[in-house]
Amino acid sequence: MTQDELKALVGRAALDYVVPGTVVGVGTGSTVNCFIDALATIKDRIAGAVSSSVASTLRLQAHGITVLDSNTVQAIPVYIDGADEIDHRGCMIKGGGAALTREKIVADLADRFICIADESKLVDVLGRFPLPVEVIPMAAAQVARRFASAYGGQATLRAGVTTDNGNVLLDVRGLAIADPLAMEAEINQWPGVVTVGIFARHRARVCLLGTEQGVKTLSFD
Ligand code: 5RP
Repeated sequence: MTQDELKALVGRAALDYVVPGTVVGVGTGSTVNCFIDALATIKDRIAGAVSSSVASTLRLQAHGITVLDSNTVQAIPVYIDGADEIDHRGCMIKGGGAALTREKIVADLADRFICIADESKLVDVLGRFPLPVEVIPMAAAQVARRFASAYGGQATLRAGVTTDNGNVLLDVRGLAIADPLAMEAEINQWPGVVTVGIFARHRARVCLLGTEQGVKTLSFD
């Protein structure tokens, strides 16, 4: 199977986790696009969606799925999203699609994060994928220097990209993230950091992994 076929497989499998009659949290990315297309087939059975990006909102709306303002929603049972890397505890690196801040906000509304990914995303230690960090533009160089001094990481500005929130992104290479929870907490304290793409506090509870043998379900509870 191709990577696209694996993404389509897990996108459809995620429908099993949608709770009928409720609002669904929807992530961002090519795997989530497959989920959105599958969700359209049951759109009359959900109360709508909360979206994590302009791109996902447009795709949901194109399917006739109601997108709700997150300020009007107090809680949702599930948030379904992809990942750039996921480890064996459900901790993730996210933000390859530049939507990490809104993704973390919607994940925070949800009881459970359901990750959908192809098997290339499963790793022992997070950090081979460059860590995305959304920063306030005036702090970009300062935060980049801090990555070098604190972790030996090399941060580069993602060229030509402005997030949905009007900020810029750093991609940090050369990290081996042994303790995702501690590193997320530390980087969150740095002035100018809006969101770090480590999802440890908001880790996945389930990962639907697309493999050659079919969908493998990893549970992290
Ligand atoms: C977007 C994300 C995506 O979930 C992540 O980049 C995975 O994307 P894809 O499904 O296209 O591989 O974090 O900000």
